[in-house]
Order: sequence, then structure tokens, then C-alpha cells
Amino acid sequence: MKKGLIIKNASQIVTMKGKEAKKGPEMNEIGILERASILIDGEKIVMVGAYEDILERVKIKDYDVIDARGKTITPGFVDPHTHLVFGGYREDEYGWRLQGDSYVSIMERGGGIVNSVSQTREATFEQLVKSGLKRLDSMVRFGVTTVEGKSGYGLDMETELKQLRVMKKLNEMHPLDIVPTFLGPHAVMPEDKGKEMAFIEYMIDKVLPIVKEENLAEFVDIFTEKNVFEIEESRKFLEKAREMGFKIKMHADEIVPLGGAELAAEFGATSADHLLKVSDKGIEMMKKNGVVATLLPLTAFSLKEEYARARDMIDNGLAVALATDMNPGSCFSESIPLVIALATVYMNMTTEETLCALTLNAAAAIDRADVVGSIEAGKQADLIIHEFESYRFIPYHFGVSTVERVIKKGQLIYDREGC
Ligand code: NIG
Ligand code: FE
Repeated sequence: MKKGLIIKNASQIVTMKGKEAKKGPEMNEIGILERASILIDGEKIVMVGAYEDILERVKIKDYDVIDARGKTITPGFVDPHTHLVFGGYREDEYGWRLQGDSYVSIMERGGGIVNSVSQTREATFEQLVKSGLKRLDSMVRFGVTTVEGKSGYGLDMETELKQLRVMKKLNEMHPLDIVPTFLGPHAVMPEDKGKEMAFIEYMIDKVLPIVKEENLAEFVDIFTEKNVFEIEESRKFLEKAREMGFKIKMHADEIVPLGGAELAAEFGATSADHLLKVSDKGIEMMKKNGVVATLLPLTAFSLKEEYARARDMIDNGLAVALATDMNPGSCFSESIPLVIALATVYMNMTTEETLCALTLNAAAAIDRADVVGSIEAGKQADLIIHEFESYRFIPYHFGVSTVERVIKKGQLIYDREGC
């Protein structure tokens, strides 16, 4: 058993050095090292620098060595917003949307989230584990090493807890780290329409205490939206959740500018997500209160909506993260290459900002910026070896994954050649 791993002589290492989100112009400071090497002991990075300097420090026979000549190394990607555990699919709804139907009209006709709720209630624990594992495997192939996952397709105690317990199991079984979020207030069933406040009280009184007691979630989230959960209902939920010690994320200002971003700022949320319709005031308040803006371009793409105003956000000093929003309805895709393509081509983010948004800032969006998201001594050894000699190839080879090998906690978990 070797002590660790040395990755030597990479053409470039994108270090992304830092232990908190990069804001505004800092997002372009990605810290490139040329012809550099990485020393990993066990699960952690110990040193980043010249191979000769590493050799002075260790006995080479104690280490496995990967030659990374001609390759670029980046931190492992972090996907900080997914709904990866769900039963069934909604391919019919996607077809209707392609014909011009809208997400909201399908939702109002009893489709949408509640459709997935019925199918998730029916699914067994084992079925959810099996499909979850498959999705995680697919994410690894895109270079994802840490992923956030939400409940929210239960809307009752039994199924919400089932989803969270499935995530716990997946976290134990799969090399990826899963950060769990309780999204009980994701929608209400048709019979509860008009009784949203009572539903929030049920979540607060009956479900949240068990989630806390069993330590099943680190964050809470809520779909704050017109005709879903309005501002006052959201405030009530977030107040209680905060009191109970949960950190906060929000689905905010996706469909109409309701003031979700402002509410996220008021609560010092870790992130506010979607933000397709965020107001200037919302951006300003998020900046003041250190809320990360997690943008989800695949959802805008799939719903044929305008992309979020990433440029305005970054130019105004916000920290922006990117995520897939992988879910069975609005966005059935975990494609990081498509996120990169949309961010760079349609959201006018620079290549550097895009990489920052998928690594350090994505880590900050799930409160992990001190553990992952960069390549520096002390951080977890979560890395991607990309096929090309410069990071500039990552967006240039658009729509295609450049990921050749993935290292998680110092272990090679994916090799494109050897699978
Ligand atoms: O992030 N907007 C709300 N929730 C999910 C969609 C869930 C679904 O359609 O099943 C989202 O897009
Ligand atoms: Fe979502």
C-alpha cells in the first residue's frame, strides 16, 4: 500500500487557490501554474510545485506516480444544485414543451413536480438507490467530485425522509461526496392548494425535527415563487429552519421577480439559486450579505427562458456559482460540458469565471470552500486530469467532456481509457 500519489509535470494546473468564494473580478484569478506537480498524501494535497522540489521531500518509491505531461489539471467540479433522487420520469412533459407548452401551464394542469412526487412515493428505497448510483456514475464522468442533492419529491414525511435516507446511503456507497438539502416546501399536492401556510407548519412541526434529529440534511431549501410559496410563507419556514440550525438555500426569482433574492439576503442564505428574474436590488442585497448566486443555465435552456444575468452579477461584485439543477422535470441533464458552453457563449462569462463558478465558488455555495474547490496544500485531493495542454480547451471543445481521469480523495475513481 503506497502512501499517496504524485501527479507530475502537468502542462498546466488551475489552482483556483482560496478558501472562500471569489467575488466579481476575482473570479478571473484562477492561479495557473505551468509544468507543475502535485503531491498527495492519503486523501489530502500536501504540496503543489516543481517535481524536483517534491522529490527532495519524499521517497518516490512510497508513491504511485501519474505522468500528466501535455495535460491540464483542475479542481474536481462541484455541482451545488441537483435533485438527483427521484422516481420515474417526465419525458412526455418535455415533449409537450418542445411543442410550445409552458412549464407553468403543465404545472397548473397537475403535472410538473407533483407528477414526480407520485412516482417517488411509489418507488422503493432500493429503486431510488439504484437510479441514484447510475446518475452519480454519470456525473463522475463529467468530472464532478462533490454534489448537492435535494429532497422535495415527497411532500409528506415518509417520502421526504426516504429521499434523504437514500442520499445518506448513496453517500456511503459511492465515492462522490453528497451534501444533502431538505426541500420539503417544493410544491403542494393539488388537494393542499390554498393551504400553503398549513403545509409549511406541518413541515416545521413534524418533518424538520426528525431531519434534524437524524442529521439527514445540512441545508434547507424552498421554492419561493408566485403561486408556489410566497414571501411570507417562505419567511416563516426559513425563520424556523434557521432557529433549528439549518443553513439556507433558496429557489429564488426563477419565474417572476418575487423578491426571493432579497429574502435570501435577509436570511444570510449560503446561496440563492436560479435568479432568472432577479431585480437589481436583489443583486445588491445578495452582494452586501455574501450570498452566492448559483446559476442554472441548463434549466433556462430547457425551459427556453432568457439566461440569468451573470455579467451584471459579476460586474456588480457578486460571487457566481454554476450548477446543473439535474431533475426529472425542468432539467433532465447532468451535463457539465453543456453548462460550460452556455455560460461562456450565452451568459458572456469568461473561461476563467466559468471554471471558478464550477469549482471554488460552487464549493462555497454548499459551504465547502475550505475543504474542496481548489488545488493547494491542506485541501482534499479532488482533481480532474483533462485531455488538453491548456485550460482554454475546456470551453473550446464545446459540448464534449475533456475529462480523462478523476481523482477523489487521492484515489483514481475514473479513467476514460480504462473506464
Ligand atoms: O429547480 N423550480 C423548482 N424546482 C426544480 C424543478 C423541479 C421539477 O420540475 O421537477 C428546479 O427547476
Ligand atoms: Fe432546482
